[in-house]
Amino acid sequence: MKMKSRALRVKRIGVAVTLVFAACVCALGQTGKGPVDPGVRGGAAGAGGPLNGLTADEAAFFQDGLARFAEVEVVTGGANNGLGPRFNSNQCLSCHAQPASGGSSPSQNPEVKVATLNGAKNVVPWFVTPHGPVREARFKKSPDASNDGEVHDLFVITGRADAVGCNIKQFNFLPAGNPQTGQGGNRNIIFRIPTPLFGAGLMEAIPDSAILANSKANAAEKAALGIRGRVNAHLSGNVNVSGNDGTITRFGWKAQNKSLVIFAGEAYNVEMGITNQLFPQERDETPGCLFNATPEDTNNFTTTPAPGTNPNTAVLSDIEAFADFMRMLAPPTPAPDTPSTVKGRGVFNKVGCTHCHTSSFTTGKLIASGSSTSPSVALSNQPVNLFSDILVHHMGAGLADGITQGAAGPDEFRTAPLWGVGQRIFFLHDGRTSNLVEAIRAHRSAGSEANKVIEHFNRLSTEEQQDLINFLRSL
Ligand code: HEC
Ligand code: HEC
Repeated sequence: MKMKSRALRVKRIGVAVTLVFAACVCALGQTGKGPVDPGVRGGAAGAGGPLNGLTADEAAFFQDGLARFAEVEVVTGGANNGLGPRFNSNQCLSCHAQPASGGSSPSQNPEVKVATLNGAKNVVPWFVTPHGPVREARFKKSPDASNDGEVHDLFVITGRADAVGCNIKQFNFLPAGNPQTGQGGNRNIIFRIPTPLFGAGLMEAIPDSAILANSKANAAEKAALGIRGRVNAHLSGNVNVSGNDGTITRFGWKAQNKSLVIFAGEAYNVEMGITNQLFPQERDETPGCLFNATPEDTNNFTTTPAPGTNPNTAVLSDIEAFADFMRMLAPPTPAPDTPSTVKGRGVFNKVGCTHCHTSSFTTGKLIASGSSTSPSVALSNQPVNLFSDILVHHMGAGLADGITQGAAGPDEFRTAPLWGVGQRIFFLHDGRTSNLVEAIRAHRSAGSEANKVIEHFNRLSTEEQQDLINFLRSL
């Protein structure tokens, strides 16, 4: 929530990438045989900046959104208020940081520090470790055994110096399982790690008709491979969706959310506990834990912006500004080709990865940003090299998380976009592995549409498999 002038804002923080850590993780579980994941690609991030070709106005709104994305929120009495009563972290950037602002889980897990920040007494749950992935938890059944499926925040504001009088308790996440993989332990709980936001505006700008046409392309090959996939369109009468207009939803691990504004509003309330114009009620209304007027983030009815602030962006709510940042955030820059990555791309196509991980779409011809008269050149008619069909697929018992979101059922997930995978530390929806070879093998289990493709992968020579891994690490 915005209370004071822009000048008080916390400056964008640099996020250190601990390559040493990545190197030791990728050595785990890798024997001499078979392909080896070389780990997080070194060198420049090649991500985190704005799209090419923004107008000066667009660039100003991108920068405003980026600054707000990096703001650290407190409960009350500070420059940015509204945190809690329950939360997972206190800043968008904390979870979306690797390898640059807008990315995925960083190597230093911010959830460990935020647990006890400012006097809070939270116990760090067993599945959150200093160098493990940022995780949020969903309960299949709520504590009273009714159907649930929702995110249950890890932390409470109880004990914080800016939350005097609040006494709510943390949820119980025990019994513990393997802290690294998140496997085992409490069978009622599943995990999700942050998806990266690079290129999100281009994804938002893909016409539904292009997604549908692609889903019908290469039908004979897909049928032979057992790949179906369906559009996660809204089901009429499904209270789990907010739009209900029948158009394709595309963001999140189950393609459960329609737009960047909706995701921003939901994340602000679900991850940070900050109510806003899309999600105006606190998720926990326990008396003694409510410190601000709700919604905590609103448009700012200011006709006299504070000195030094941009009068145009000053009126925006935070969720609108977050969406502007994500919409104009450039896609990741892949590494230059090598002979091995070129071969690897061929292998990717040959074994059929590409039937789900569609290499490219094109955005609509006329995509607006902030002007009602001229479309955004940066967003219109642009390639989207995301390596996803944006459909949800049955991924089998091994990956199933038992959660239904919109039309995506318990074992269905959105084909994870692979752009930027070369610089990611953690993979799959629950962050169970840091090893791309394991991520590929996890595609195979009873009921998975990917089984035949993974059988093809397993029959490749080690050299071809290695080329494929090298190709993925170049993305
Ligand atoms: C505690 C960590 C955390 C914080 C803080 C956080 N996120 Fe996320 N974000 C996640 C997780 C986890 C997911 C995946 C959720 C899912 O699909 O179930 C996600 C997914 C997203 C996505 C979907 C992208 C895609 O293509 O799938 C968007 C957009 C997003 N977050 C925006 C934001 C914004 C804006 C903020 C700040 C208001 C924010 N997030 C704060 C953890 C976080
Ligand atoms: C049937 C569709 C399908 C096929 C075929 C398929 N994938 Fe996937 N892929 C997915 C889905 C869905 C996910 C997300 C699964 C999850 O997180 O539970 C995924 C996740 C991944 C990830 C992890 C990405 C991340 O964000 O964590 C990698 C890497 C990957 N796939 C590579 C491949 C490769 C390489 C092939 C070919 C050998 C392949 N996939 C074949 C659907 C598919």
